[in-house]
Amino acid sequence: MTTSNTVAHVLQDGPEELKPCFSPEALRQVEEIFRRYPVNQRRSALLPLLHLAQRQFGGWLSRQALDYVAELIGLAPIRVYEVATFYTMYNLKPVGTYHVQVCTNISCWLCNSDAIAQALQQKLGIQFSETTVDGQFTLTEVECLGACVNAPMMQINDDYYENLTPETAVAVIDRMMEVSP
Ligand code: FES
Repeated sequence: MTTSNTVAHVLQDGPEELKPCFSPEALRQVEEIFRRYPVNQRRSALLPLLHLAQRQFGGWLSRQALDYVAELIGLAPIRVYEVATFYTMYNLKPVGTYHVQVCTNISCWLCNSDAIAQALQQKLGIQFSETTVDGQFTLTEVECLGACVNAPMMQINDDYYENLTPETAVAVIDRMMEVSP
């Protein structure tokens, strides 16, 4: 199998009826992002555009979303696939309403992140890389998120939760379950 085929193989199609298309506000942000770079270097905008697309299209990037970004930026789709599959912060399959990312890298691990992961897995009834059947929570193991000074920690959507214990981590999930529909 060639590298191109291998990269394309890990991508997932989105729902047929949902063709990716940025909102007018997102398109305004695209123009703003493009203005940061020389006109002949639009490819430099790829990372922020993928980030914007992930926010706009439900927290993950389908193959169609990547193709849409490729067309916007004027790159061959394979170039966009290669970048999106390299960085772990781009989600290539659907995630729950709450994307719980638990750092298990060295500082967090030394501060007992294993116990936090275990408590969350038990609370949610899922393992890493899984989503609860109601689609509310996805649990992901991640590398250092740059908050080692307050290890152990986790990120849920855009928010950091630091200096965790298994009990406080579960309490955070409890609060989210209370407000979930
Ligand atoms: S090792 Fe967990 S935030 Fe750095």
